[in-house]
Amino acid sequence: TWTSANIIDDQVAAIREQVGDKQVICGLSGGVDSAVAAALVHKAIGDQLTCVFVDHGLLRAGEAEQVEKDYVAATGIRLVVVDAEETFLGHLAGVTDPEQKRKIIGREFIRTFEGAARDLDAERHIEFLVQGTLYPDVVESGGGTGTANIKSHHNVGGLPDDLQFALIEPLRTLFKDEVRALGAELGLPEEIVQRHPFPGPGLAIRIIGAVDRERLDVLRAADLIAREELTASGLDREVWQFPVVLLADVRSVGVQGDGRTYGHPVVLRPVSSEDAMTADWSRLPYDVVAKISNRITNEVPEVNRVVLDVTSKPPGTIEWE
Ligand code: XMP
Repeated sequence: TWTSANIIDDQVAAIREQVGDKQVICGLSGGVDSAVAAALVHKAIGDQLTCVFVDHGLLRAGEAEQVEKDYVAATGIRLVVVDAEETFLGHLAGVTDPEQKRKIIGREFIRTFEGAARDLDAERHIEFLVQGTLYPDVVESGGGTGTANIKSHHNVGGLPDDLQFALIEPLRTLFKDEVRALGAELGLPEEIVQRHPFPGPGLAIRIIGAVDRERLDVLRAADLIAREELTASGLDREVWQFPVVLLADVRSVGVQGDGRTYGHPVVLRPVSSEDAMTADWSRLPYDVVAKISNRITNEVPEVNRVVLDVTSKPPGTIEWE
């Protein structure tokens, strides 16, 4: 029978068997999948695991700190943090095409991770790499049932020949809710276990247009308000994911006080889903939507209009890029 405790026991035994006394590396993304995968491996082999967190500067407000402080405090995992914001933003400068963004971020992520892995490998020979791949990831990337590859998903992979690690993918047969149950059972903080899914390419694919620090800061401010108000409404668990999207190249006329404004719209994209393969737009109460809209337009000067995405998946995807 399926219980979190059973899965953990089985996986811990399997990981110990697979790894023996060898050293293991894991990239943390800030999301629940890699957090749970790493915690599981840590439970199995303790300090034979070292985690690497590449901060690409595309995370939401407070997320990097949550990994660097709260997660480490909860697990005792050994963590290496790489601050790579400047590199990523440099390579992304002026790029507007979604697939191009994804490719650049994927490539730079691998390069950065590779650098950290190489350093670590020199210090303690590494033989295994942990990945937080879930069952839906396997399917969406065309690896499972032959479905079309809609978007190039970004994951650590394709390391060079002199850095070949065997993979540990303890979540490969699981869905998100099962992974959350596992995380809770492993004692991870609620904010990490219940965190909504967040894409590897981060806020870069929620800025429609070129990505720069200023635009990221605008989106981070709007996104934080949406998250705060959703939590305040008690609806976090009703909603699968709540992307906020900045239409950075669109402007519209507005009025504030006695003045004309010419700002950017943000799109609220709350969705309900079981596994992200299909989704419906969340029927958030109007007063919650109104509160978010009022706060964003009052508190984020660059944004003068808030719109609600009422498209299901299909035909829309959850993310806009
Ligand atoms: P879409 O936009 O295709 O997204 O409906 C489905 C789910 O996948 C997430 N997503 C990603 N996750 N790397 C990830 O780890 C990616 O490149 C990526 N792109 C989309 C998205 O947030 C949603 O949960």
